[in-house]
Amino acid sequence: MPFMDTQYDYIANTYHSNKSRIFYKIVDHSLKKMLGNLSNLNVLDLACGEGHITRQLKSYGAKNVIGVDISKEMIKLAEKQEKAKPLGIKYICSSVQELGRLDTFDIITGVYLLHYARKKEELKKICTTISENLKLGGCFIGVNTNGIKSRLYDKLTNYDFEYVLPKNIRTGQMFKTVIRYCQKPIELQMYYYSQKTYNSILRESGFRKVDWIDFDIPPELDDNKEVSHWKRFIKLSAEGLLHCRK
Ligand SMILES: C[S@@+](CC[C@H](N)C(=O)[O-])C[C@H]1O[C@@H](n2cnc3c(N)ncnc32)[C@H](O)[C@@H]1O
Repeated sequence: MPFMDTQYDYIANTYHSNKSRIFYKIVDHSLKKMLGNLSNLNVLDLACGEGHITRQLKSYGAKNVIGVDISKEMIKLAEKQEKAKPLGIKYICSSVQELGRLDTFDIITGVYLLHYARKKEELKKICTTISENLKLGGCFIGVNTNGIKSRLYDKLTNYDFEYVLPKNIRTGQMFKTVIRYCQKPIELQMYYYSQKTYNSILRESGFRKVDWIDFDIPPELDDNKEVSHWKRFIKLSAEGLLHCRK
């Protein structure tokens, strides 16, 4: 049965319009630092949404960039921006687990992808698809909830978003994230995996080395009054970068 997850179809415009928020500046900076110069590399951006990260990959020098997302509304927004300002990016509307093998990529990114897998088997299929599309020695670079200290998630109040986790959450169990920066709060469904589960599934899927890395604050934000607030978020380690080498 085809995988259907249309939750982003309903919020595509709202999500798109909030990328200037301080938290996304921290994510973008951390990712840029990890990716480095992508000159002449072929890059696949999974769960590309409306292409916020996909376009950045081009600006870091990538030769060919393909963006993939399950939400047709997100892909429509991405294509609209590509049409307005062509960068040569190709977009595909598909779930990652149904994508198959497109090509051999040097780098694959997945910024907020893995925690949408609804069960362990689906997470495995997503990780296998990533691995099958990567060259040997290539890297998967992700941003994700990192599955540790879940008991601390309820301390993360007063942020742009809030995690609502059932007590003693188990592998594969659904939790909600409430996005608070919109006119009306938006609820998204995500799925919990411990860091141990992520690591073992990634290894089984062909990755030799898996590392979780904390976000990095861009130096230009050092004087920003909101930064100490976000430093606390980083310290509680609810989310982070994922670096996996095949
Ligand atoms: C939080 S958004 C992130 C978008 C983009 N990576 C960014 O950072 O701007 C998550 C995206 O993942 C997509 N998504 C969720 N599960 C997916 C799957 N199994 N296959 C492909 N896309 C998926 C959603 O449609 C949504 O656009």
